Amino acid sequence: MNINRNILTLDEFTIQELRNFPAATGELSSLLRDMGLAAKRVNVEVNKAGLVDILGDYGTTNVQGEEVKKLDVYANNQFVGALKHGISCAGIGSEELDDVVIFDDPVSNNSKYVCLFDPLDGSSNIDVNVSIGTIFSVYRRVSERGKPCTKEDFLQQGNKQVAAGYVIYGSSTMFVYATKRGVNGFTLDPQIGEFCLSHPGIKCPEKGKIYSVNHGNFFQYEQGVKEYITACQKKTKADGGPYTQRYIGSMVADVHRNLIKGGIFTYPGTIDKPKGKLRLMYECNPFAYIVEKAGGKATNGKQRILDIQPTELHQRTPLFIGSNKMMEELETYLEEK
Ligand code: AHG
Ligand code: MN
Ligand code: MN
Repeated sequence: MNINRNILTLDEFTIQELRNFPAATGELSSLLRDMGLAAKRVNVEVNKAGLVDILGDYGTTNVQGEEVKKLDVYANNQFVGALKHGISCAGIGSEELDDVVIFDDPVSNNSKYVCLFDPLDGSSNIDVNVSIGTIFSVYRRVSERGKPCTKEDFLQQGNKQVAAGYVIYGSSTMFVYATKRGVNGFTLDPQIGEFCLSHPGIKCPEKGKIYSVNHGNFFQYEQGVKEYITACQKKTKADGGPYTQRYIGSMVADVHRNLIKGGIFTYPGTIDKPKGKLRLMYECNPFAYIVEKAGGKATNGKQRILDIQPTELHQRTPLFIGSNKMMEELETYLEEK
């Protein structure tokens, strides 16, 4: 019999990956499936965002008299719920929640992983129909299995991640995740409601022509950053240019584009906010892991993002991330200053 079906779903792919690791328990596959399920639920709501005037504004009461949750709160609840009901996650940390949530039930206490996430990234873009996303990070817990997980499980360096990923709710919806084996992207086929492998073995081009930065903050940046941005503007054909500036304001969309096309994304510190805006645990570490696994680089301007020892769950850090060669050039500007 000739079965001509090349398309692998996310679940099929992660299960096939298990064959390469006879000792694997399948817990990571199951965690990724939980994330995929929550992402599909969020996707349905994101697609309805333009209908809020009819159905009721987020954060208000709709025509049926039901309270409509803000989309970032809704997304948070979906991811927390999916992981709590799953069998692989002992607890979570979320950008939307002040403190970690330790699931503390017999199944969760035996689970191997903890998960950190930004449930809805780029939330200010929801109202204007621009791509938004979800970013997540998976760590193997360091506390003893069989007991509730602890804060220590969450405050691990990014280089301890077992997997990291993101979902982009864009012109199509994609689920991209990285493990030590590489980076793979899946596009949601709305007809069957499954993420299908569309971008196997993603590699970030060594160089690109895109730089992404909030130019509105230009005069707040340190000298080296200003000089690098000016150098980007001055690029000619002779030195790999001209460059193009692209900045959506949803990190997921900006970094995703640069990952595929080649480019550099920066959110530097400013005079007002020396640590910038982005969160180490929910945004920078997962993307640093993904981009490094795809062959790129990520730093805070001084240090590799993945080597930063976190001290607080919600800490922020400047971020420079992208194509290897472009990052190397940026570093020469930051070193000089
Ligand atoms: P969030 O919606 O999770 O708070 O994140 C928004 C972030 C990030 O996605 C984006 O790159 C950055 O904010 C944009 O900030 P500026 O508007 O200051 O450039
Ligand atoms: Mn965010
Ligand atoms: Mn967010």
